[in-house]
Amino acid sequence: MTFEIKNICCIGAGYVGGPTMSVIADKCPNININVVDKSPERIALWNSSNLELLPIYEPGLDKIIARCRDKNLTFSTKIKEKISAADMIFISVNTPTKTKGIGAGQASDLKWVEACAREVALSAKGHTIVVEKSTLPVKTAEVIKTILEASQPNSNELKKTFDVLSNPEFLAEGSAISDLESPDRVLIGGESNDAIIALSNIYRNWVPTEKILHTNIWSSELSKLTANAFLAQRISSINSISALCESTGADIREVARAIGLDSRIGSKFLNCGPGFGGSCFKKDILNLVYLSRYYNLNEVADFWESVVKLNNWHQHRLSELIIQNLFKTVCGKKICILGFAFKANTNDTRETAAIKICKDLLEEGAFLCINDPKVSKEQIHNDLGLESLKSLTNYSKRDDFFNFEGQWIFEDSIYKAIENSDAVVILTEWDEYKKINWSKVAKIMRKPSWIFDARSILESKEIISHGLLFWRIGDGSLNV
Ligand code: NAD
Ligand code: UGA
Repeated sequence: MTFEIKNICCIGAGYVGGPTMSVIADKCPNININVVDKSPERIALWNSSNLELLPIYEPGLDKIIARCRDKNLTFSTKIKEKISAADMIFISVNTPTKTKGIGAGQASDLKWVEACAREVALSAKGHTIVVEKSTLPVKTAEVIKTILEASQPNSNELKKTFDVLSNPEFLAEGSAISDLESPDRVLIGGESNDAIIALSNIYRNWVPTEKILHTNIWSSELSKLTANAFLAQRISSINSISALCESTGADIREVARAIGLDSRIGSKFLNCGPGFGGSCFKKDILNLVYLSRYYNLNEVADFWESVVKLNNWHQHRLSELIIQNLFKTVCGKKICILGFAFKANTNDTRETAAIKICKDLLEEGAFLCINDPKVSKEQIHNDLGLESLKSLTNYSKRDDFFNFEGQWIFEDSIYKAIENSDAVVILTEWDEYKKINWSKVAKIMRKPSWIFDARSILESKEIISHGLLFWRIGDGSLNV
């Protein structure tokens, strides 16, 4: 039996639900897509007429929203109503690491996924295909299925039936729209061939058939965790070698190029940086660690756990290095932080290295002036757990920074953020920071003036030619 999908409901209007459904709506004008969320604030932002206020910044997303919203794409909090009308439901809610109870610190917290399954069980009508879009531990489909099947209406009403599929999402933030429009692959795992075909047919509107993979449901769930673990492992690998480069006089950029030309290794994902952030790498690896221990595979768990340990160590290594170079104290010094997002082209700060590094520096008494083109002051306040200074009007001379020990302020202008600072630290690879006028910077900083490039986006010759002291991640040649 072929299922024709006319109405989709996606539960969760986040970084995945919003962009994914927008692209499906754009590519499939004959399907009605309703994105629902329990957060009225988030939904209001998705519906704002000023597209600059969308809750997520993703290049290209605003244009799609302008084309599809209120045609075949809606955003609302009408969860029950939209579930009832749907032939296919995507569960795209958050699955963070558990903070308490069994598996705290490692296992995924599935309470929101379970809540969705219960809501679907209650409100769905007739036959419904339920698709796991969230990243989930292996065997979650079993839980969802059990909840769905347990809820049947009174005997005189029409019986509800369900198929559960796994269709993990591989988009990366900042390039979500192009990743969704031209994915390397689409993965669909499940037991029901008809349901798999129904979902494949949606993707076939724009994805070549050979890129749509069908697997069993457990392989699909595990492939998502494994893909993220492999990617994160590559970053920990290159970051570990960056430390070795700094000690030996080698340059990580040259090493990355040399190894990346080996076609078995490949050149992607070899940029060293301040350590991986984002909402998923750490949580998904920890989930893999938890699963491995659950199955008594302790060596496997230790192997993957070391990827996260290396990342934590690397982030603190950077804060220590900054403090060491500033004569072992940052107290009373102004440090300009350029970039707070976990990567360029996103406003997402979840698990960003900037949180750890800023907290370390604040703890040491630094006064931080933070700039980011897309992250708001309020977001940074939430992340640092510390309110920002309202203004700097009450200082006139340099020494006054002692009055701002362990405090921070947000600054929109890059040059104002840099003015009078002792050090500039680049933590996100925004294009704006690649175009900074270093001659101007040299004139407005206090001397000795340090530039710390944790993203390896600057050219040393130019910076040094203006009399600035320069450290670039993984560049041991600067130490000799
Ligand atoms: P998010 O936090 O941005 O969005 C989740 C949304 O779900 C929130 O708006 C929340 O209000 C809503 N929600 C939670 N429970 C709900 C319920 N019961 N009913 C209605 N709404 C509910 O999360 P995200 O970044 O979109 O991630 C979602 C899932 O996708 C996670 O499992 C994540 O691991 C996975 N994933 C994320 C990315 C990414 O780039 N962020 C990429 C691939 C996969
Ligand atoms: C990552 C994966 O790339 C996606 O395939 C996956 O769908 C997603 O996680 C998820 O499951 O959430 P994302 O976290 O958005 O996507 O961004 P990435 O480009 O993978 O970057 C993650 C972190 O690694 C960032 O902090 C980034 O700066 C860092 N990174 C990335 C490096 O330090 N070096 C690199 O070469 C690449």
